[in-house]
Amino acid sequence: MPLKNEKPKVAIIGCGQVGTQAATLLALNSLCDLILYDVIEGLSKGRALDLSQAAVPSVFDVSITAVNSLEETLDADIFLITAGKSRLPGMSRTDLVNVNAEIIGKIAKKLSFSKKDSIFVVVTNPLDVMVSIFLKKSGRDRAKILGMGGILDSARLAYFISKETGISPLEIDAWVLGAHSNTMVPCFSLTRIKGQPADEVLSSNQKEKIVEKTRMGGAEIVSYLKTGSAFLAPGASAAKLVKTIVEDENFLLPVSVYLDGEYGFQGAALGVPAIVGRNGIERIVEIKLLPSELEALKVSFKEVKEILSKVN
Ligand code: 2OP
Repeated sequence: MPLKNEKPKVAIIGCGQVGTQAATLLALNSLCDLILYDVIEGLSKGRALDLSQAAVPSVFDVSITAVNSLEETLDADIFLITAGKSRLPGMSRTDLVNVNAEIIGKIAKKLSFSKKDSIFVVVTNPLDVMVSIFLKKSGRDRAKILGMGGILDSARLAYFISKETGISPLEIDAWVLGAHSNTMVPCFSLTRIKGQPADEVLSSNQKEKIVEKTRMGGAEIVSYLKTGSAFLAPGASAAKLVKTIVEDENFLLPVSVYLDGEYGFQGAALGVPAIVGRNGIERIVEIKLLPSELEALKVSFKEVKEILSKVN
């Protein structure tokens, strides 16, 4: 942990669109200093200069440094890992597995030399598989490795509930567990709309439509953008997770974490509710779910394990 009066250092590993959006939102909060790294020469330098020059109009005061090697990021407190390829139209997140597994494996090995209490937030897809690979290759404690998928999927669920009901997304506490993939599990039993259980507000037809829209949320954006995937909501969700850690907020959030018996699952990462604070995963919380939700989680976990077994 940094000394008093010193800001925590967050290293952004991968300065593509998601990394840049997250860095921008973190800078706007003035909560942490930023170290930017990208494998493409010049990208981190360009982004760091550009973002630094946004300080006056945007009113923030943080140090933003560009580095050319992962070794130069090792004294960071938190690593936000967005490196890797993103989807193109017609691709699922799983199609990225081989290329991104190699990238994440190499990064994990290099970052294993970072400070012992450093925290790693993984964003690269297929998310839950990448969290599992990062754990294996880095040899770090599973509580220090958090995958950002559920915050994004839950934000999308809130958005689609809001479109259906006309209620502000800020008054919707939406929950999506499971993998950040087509097998994600929107949990209406945990979701509250203006404080009311979602099951009491939404009809079965509405729920079906909302689930389908949420599952396809990322793919719909890819189909419009054509040359890449969503980055504004993913970057915002990644920044929220980093902020929760930096500020030691101890919020209950859906995060992907390597499971060791929780919810009856073992041997891969999956999105589950966890208290997140300065130590990363402070505690995985086993909330009572509906039998149908638990069944859907099983399907999701099985998918992650199957993909993982093919990469290992
Ligand atoms: C998404 O769902 C990129 O996985 C990200 O949009």
